[in-house]
Amino acid sequence: MNKKFTEIYNSIDIDMTSAVSDYKDPFHLFSFANSSDNNPEIRTVVLRNFSIDKRIFEFHSDIRSPKIEQLNINPNFSALFYSPDKKIQLRFSGIVKILHKDTSTKKRWQGISSSSRRCYLGPYSPSSTIEIDHPNIPEDFRFGDPKKEETENGIENFVIVQCKFTSIDYLSLKYSGHSRCRFDFIGKNVSVCWLAP
Ligand SMILES: Cc1cc2nc3c(=O)[nH]c(=O)nc-3n(C[C@H](O)[C@H](O)[C@H](O)COP(=O)(O)O)c2cc1C
Repeated sequence: MNKKFTEIYNSIDIDMTSAVSDYKDPFHLFSFANSSDNNPEIRTVVLRNFSIDKRIFEFHSDIRSPKIEQLNINPNFSALFYSPDKKIQLRFSGIVKILHKDTSTKKRWQGISSSSRRCYLGPYSPSSTIEIDHPNIPEDFRFGDPKKEETENGIENFVIVQCKFTSIDYLSLKYSGHSRCRFDFIGKNVSVCWLAP
């Protein structure tokens, strides 16, 4: 990689890594898209982990969500990040792995607060049709966090969606001229080329 590509690659690493823990960072939320029966599906999710060396990032979800079943059938994804501050768009593509009740999910579950754990204790499958408006968290925990020991069953529904990316499309907007390139990851090799913005 030449100097300019190396700078871009390192900036992606820095920006994505810092967005994991900074909820105010525009990259903290992203649009995650997949395909189900040839129809596009897209939704907002929260960035939970990023490693450029391992070529992965992650978000958390509920195993009962339709997207999990869809991703088990077709694991291809596209993920879109945009920072209006930096005027940078990142578009990742690759294949997901659903982690459930393995060492990683058990370890991650330990770090999740009781208030967040409530979301995995809802009586309904996310996205299912319901008779009346309902927040899908247990009634007892609506206005106060449960004790940690009351949330342990949530792990049955908790999954980590691990997105293994094989390409990153980088676009930087500037009045003096936009700049765009694509990184492709094949095994341990990285290839990169400029693209017309
Ligand atoms: C700001 C925001 C953050 C969200 N974060 C997540 C998330 O991290 N994981 C998730 O599964 N759903 C998250 N959601 C809900 C999804 O956008 C979506 O409504 C839900 O997962 C159902 O999607 P599905 O029917 O495609 O499975 C979030 C929604 C918003 C508005």
